[in-house]
Amino acid sequence: MMYITIDGPAGSGKSSVAQRLAKELGFEHLDTGALYRSAALLWLRYGKDDFFNMLNNAKFELVNGTLRMNGKALGDEIRTPEIGKVVSKVAEMPKVREIITQKTRELADEKNIVVEGRDIGTVVLPNACVKIFLVASVEERAKRRYAQYQLKGINIRFEDVVKEIESRDRIDSSREVAPLKPAEDALMFNTDSLTLNEVVKKLKEIVLEKLKKC
Ligand code: DC
Repeated sequence: MMYITIDGPAGSGKSSVAQRLAKELGFEHLDTGALYRSAALLWLRYGKDDFFNMLNNAKFELVNGTLRMNGKALGDEIRTPEIGKVVSKVAEMPKVREIITQKTRELADEKNIVVEGRDIGTVVLPNACVKIFLVASVEERAKRRYAQYQLKGINIRFEDVVKEIESRDRIDSSREVAPLKPAEDALMFNTDSLTLNEVVKKLKEIVLEKLKKC
Protein backbone atom coordinates (compact mmCIF):
# COMPACT_ATOMS: atom_id res chain seq x y z
CA MET A 1 0.00 0.00 0.00
CA MET A 2 1.33 3.44 -0.87
CA TYR A 3 0.99 6.70 0.98
CA ILE A 4 1.51 10.16 -0.53
CA THR A 5 1.50 13.03 1.96
CA ILE A 6 0.80 16.65 1.07
CA ASP A 7 1.43 19.24 3.77
CA GLY A 8 1.56 23.01 3.64
CA PRO A 9 0.11 26.22 5.04
CA ALA A 10 -3.45 27.55 4.65
CA GLY A 11 -4.17 28.56 1.06
CA SER A 12 -1.17 26.79 -0.47
CA GLY A 13 -3.55 24.83 -2.70
CA LYS A 14 -3.30 21.55 -0.79
CA SER A 15 -6.91 20.46 -1.09
CA SER A 16 -7.36 21.08 -4.81
CA VAL A 17 -3.96 19.57 -5.61
CA ALA A 18 -4.43 16.53 -3.35
CA GLN A 19 -7.89 15.79 -4.74
CA ARG A 20 -6.82 16.05 -8.37
CA LEU A 21 -3.60 14.15 -7.88
CA ALA A 22 -5.45 11.31 -6.10
CA LYS A 23 -8.00 11.13 -8.89
CA GLU A 24 -5.37 11.02 -11.63
CA LEU A 25 -3.37 8.32 -9.84
CA GLY A 26 -6.46 6.27 -8.89
CA PHE A 27 -5.66 6.77 -5.19
CA GLU A 28 -8.09 7.61 -2.39
CA HIS A 29 -7.91 11.06 -0.82
CA LEU A 30 -8.16 12.14 2.81
CA ASP A 31 -8.29 15.75 3.99
CA THR A 32 -7.23 15.71 7.64
CA GLY A 33 -8.27 19.37 8.02
CA ALA A 34 -11.82 17.99 7.78
CA LEU A 35 -11.10 15.72 10.75
CA TYR A 36 -9.91 18.70 12.83
CA ARG A 37 -12.94 20.68 11.65
CA SER A 38 -15.19 17.80 12.77
CA ALA A 39 -13.48 17.88 16.17
CA ALA A 40 -14.25 21.61 16.32
CA LEU A 41 -17.88 20.84 15.46
CA LEU A 42 -18.09 18.40 18.39
CA TRP A 43 -16.43 20.99 20.64
CA LEU A 44 -19.06 23.59 19.74
CA ARG A 45 -21.89 21.08 19.96
CA TYR A 46 -21.09 19.28 23.20
CA GLY A 47 -18.86 21.64 25.18
CA LYS A 48 -15.72 20.65 26.99
CA ASP A 49 -17.25 18.15 29.45
CA ASP A 50 -18.39 15.59 26.87
CA PHE A 51 -16.05 16.58 24.06
CA PHE A 52 -13.21 14.07 24.46
CA ASN A 53 -15.61 11.17 24.89
CA MET A 54 -17.54 12.18 21.79
CA LEU A 55 -14.34 12.59 19.77
CA ASN A 56 -12.86 9.31 20.98
CA ASN A 57 -16.03 7.43 20.09
CA ALA A 58 -16.64 9.20 16.79
CA LYS A 59 -16.53 6.77 13.86
CA PHE A 60 -14.91 8.20 10.74
CA GLU A 61 -15.16 6.42 7.38
CA LEU A 62 -14.28 7.16 3.77
CA VAL A 63 -17.23 6.09 1.64
CA ASN A 64 -16.90 6.61 -2.13
CA GLY A 65 -14.43 9.42 -1.52
CA THR A 66 -16.62 11.18 1.05
CA LEU A 67 -15.65 11.47 4.70
CA ARG A 68 -18.38 10.46 7.15
CA MET A 69 -18.65 10.93 10.88
CA ASN A 70 -20.98 8.53 12.70
CA GLY A 71 -22.60 7.56 9.41
CA LYS A 72 -23.25 11.11 8.23
CA ALA A 73 -21.39 12.76 5.32
CA LEU A 74 -19.45 15.86 6.40
CA GLY A 75 -20.27 18.87 4.23
CA ASP A 76 -20.74 22.60 4.63
CA GLU A 77 -21.41 22.37 8.37
CA ILE A 78 -17.66 22.01 9.00
CA ARG A 79 -16.77 24.98 6.73
CA THR A 80 -18.61 27.76 8.59
CA PRO A 81 -16.96 30.91 10.01
CA GLU A 82 -17.80 29.62 13.55
CA ILE A 83 -15.75 26.48 12.96
CA GLY A 84 -13.04 28.59 11.28
CA LYS A 85 -12.72 30.65 14.45
CA VAL A 86 -12.18 27.76 16.88
CA VAL A 87 -10.53 25.06 14.79
CA SER A 88 -6.92 26.23 15.23
CA LYS A 89 -7.39 26.29 18.99
CA VAL A 90 -9.03 22.85 19.05
CA ALA A 91 -6.23 21.51 16.82
CA GLU A 92 -3.64 22.80 19.31
CA MET A 93 -4.79 20.46 22.10
CA PRO A 94 -2.33 17.54 22.38
CA LYS A 95 -5.11 15.06 23.23
CA VAL A 96 -7.06 16.09 20.13
CA ARG A 97 -3.96 15.61 17.98
CA GLU A 98 -3.35 12.19 19.49
CA ILE A 99 -6.91 11.04 18.74
CA ILE A 100 -7.01 12.47 15.19
CA THR A 101 -3.55 11.07 14.39
CA GLN A 102 -4.74 7.59 15.42
CA LYS A 103 -7.96 7.92 13.43
CA THR A 104 -6.06 9.16 10.36
CA ARG A 105 -3.73 6.13 10.50
CA GLU A 106 -6.73 3.80 10.74
CA LEU A 107 -8.42 5.49 7.77
CA ALA A 108 -5.25 5.29 5.66
CA ASP A 109 -4.43 1.71 6.61
CA GLU A 110 -4.22 -0.74 3.70
CA LYS A 111 -4.98 1.90 1.08
CA ASN A 112 -3.25 3.66 -1.77
CA ILE A 113 -4.04 7.14 -0.54
CA VAL A 114 -3.10 10.83 -0.74
CA VAL A 115 -3.34 12.32 2.76
CA GLU A 116 -3.19 16.09 3.18
CA GLY A 117 -2.69 18.20 6.28
CA ARG A 118 0.01 19.98 8.27
CA ASP A 119 1.92 17.18 10.01
CA ILE A 120 1.26 14.16 7.83
CA GLY A 121 4.82 13.67 6.52
CA THR A 122 6.43 14.50 9.88
CA VAL A 123 4.18 12.83 12.47
CA VAL A 124 1.19 10.92 11.13
CA LEU A 125 2.73 8.87 8.29
CA PRO A 126 6.51 9.34 8.60
CA ASN A 127 7.14 6.25 6.46
CA ALA A 128 5.11 7.54 3.51
CA CYS A 129 6.54 6.75 0.10
CA VAL A 130 6.25 10.30 -1.28
CA LYS A 131 6.12 13.50 0.79
CA ILE A 132 5.27 16.85 -0.72
CA PHE A 133 5.30 20.23 1.04
CA LEU A 134 3.49 22.96 -0.87
CA VAL A 135 4.54 26.58 -0.44
CA ALA A 136 3.24 29.87 -1.82
CA SER A 137 3.66 33.51 -0.84
CA VAL A 138 1.22 35.12 1.60
CA GLU A 139 -0.07 37.42 -1.19
CA GLU A 140 -0.74 34.54 -3.55
CA ARG A 141 -2.47 32.51 -0.85
CA ALA A 142 -4.56 35.51 0.22
CA LYS A 143 -5.60 36.09 -3.40
CA ARG A 144 -6.81 32.49 -3.69
CA ARG A 145 -8.66 32.59 -0.37
CA TYR A 146 -10.22 35.96 -1.30
CA ALA A 147 -11.47 34.51 -4.60
CA GLN A 148 -12.97 31.53 -2.74
CA TYR A 149 -14.81 33.88 -0.34
CA GLN A 150 -16.12 35.92 -3.28
CA LEU A 151 -17.43 32.76 -4.95
CA LYS A 152 -19.31 31.89 -1.76
CA GLY A 153 -20.73 35.44 -1.58
CA ILE A 154 -18.82 36.21 1.63
CA ASN A 155 -17.98 39.90 1.90
CA ILE A 156 -14.50 40.49 3.33
CA ARG A 157 -11.68 42.99 2.70
CA PHE A 158 -8.51 41.74 1.02
CA GLU A 159 -6.36 43.14 3.87
CA ASP A 160 -8.40 41.08 6.34
CA VAL A 161 -7.79 37.92 4.32
CA VAL A 162 -4.04 38.65 4.44
CA LYS A 163 -4.31 39.04 8.23
CA GLU A 164 -6.30 35.80 8.53
CA ILE A 165 -3.63 33.88 6.57
CA GLU A 166 -0.78 35.39 8.60
CA SER A 167 -2.50 34.62 11.87
CA ARG A 168 -3.21 30.98 10.87
CA ASP A 169 0.43 30.59 9.80
CA ARG A 170 1.57 31.84 13.20
CA ILE A 171 -0.73 29.50 15.16
CA ASP A 172 -0.07 26.45 12.95
CA SER A 173 3.72 26.93 12.91
CA SER A 174 4.28 27.82 16.54
CA ARG A 175 2.20 25.23 18.40
CA GLU A 176 4.16 22.83 20.57
CA VAL A 177 2.76 19.53 19.29
CA ALA A 178 3.21 18.72 15.60
CA PRO A 179 3.79 22.25 14.26
CA LEU A 180 3.53 22.93 10.54
CA LYS A 181 6.95 22.17 9.09
CA PRO A 182 8.31 20.16 6.18
CA ALA A 183 9.63 16.65 6.79
CA GLU A 184 13.37 16.38 6.12
CA ASP A 185 12.70 14.11 3.16
CA ALA A 186 9.81 16.19 1.76
CA LEU A 187 9.90 17.66 -1.71
CA MET A 188 9.33 21.45 -1.44
CA PHE A 189 7.11 22.67 -4.26
CA ASN A 190 6.31 26.35 -4.82
CA THR A 191 2.93 26.94 -6.46
CA ASP A 192 3.30 30.73 -6.96
CA SER A 193 2.16 31.81 -10.43
CA LEU A 194 1.31 28.26 -11.49
CA THR A 195 -2.23 27.19 -12.37
CA LEU A 196 -3.81 24.15 -10.70
CA ASN A 197 -3.38 22.17 -13.94
CA GLU A 198 0.30 23.06 -14.11
CA VAL A 199 0.91 22.07 -10.48
CA VAL A 200 -0.92 18.75 -10.86
CA LYS A 201 0.88 17.92 -14.11
CA LYS A 202 4.35 18.57 -12.64
CA LEU A 203 3.64 16.81 -9.38
CA LYS A 204 2.17 13.79 -11.14
CA GLU A 205 5.38 13.36 -13.13
CA ILE A 206 7.51 13.64 -9.99
CA VAL A 207 5.27 11.33 -7.95
CA LEU A 208 5.12 8.62 -10.62
CA GLU A 209 8.93 8.58 -10.72
CA LYS A 210 9.14 8.34 -6.93
CA LEU A 211 6.45 5.65 -6.65
CA LYS A 212 8.57 3.34 -8.82
CA LYS A 213 11.19 3.30 -6.07
CA CYS A 214 8.86 2.61 -3.13
O1 DC B 1 -6.79 22.68 6.14
P1 DC B 1 -7.90 23.31 6.95
O2 DC B 1 -7.94 24.81 6.90
O3 DC B 1 -9.23 22.69 6.71
O4 DC B 1 -7.49 22.92 8.47
C1 DC B 1 -8.28 23.29 9.56
C2 DC B 1 -7.41 23.45 10.80
O5 DC B 1 -6.88 22.20 11.23
C3 DC B 1 -6.22 24.41 10.66
O6 DC B 1 -6.24 25.31 11.75
C4 DC B 1 -5.01 23.54 10.77
C5 DC B 1 -5.50 22.31 11.46
N1 DC B 1 -4.84 21.10 10.96
C6 DC B 1 -3.81 20.59 11.70
O7 DC B 1 -3.44 21.18 12.71
N2 DC B 1 -3.21 19.43 11.31
C7 DC B 1 -3.61 18.80 10.19
N3 DC B 1 -3.00 17.65 9.84
C8 DC B 1 -4.66 19.33 9.40
C9 DC B 1 -5.26 20.50 9.82
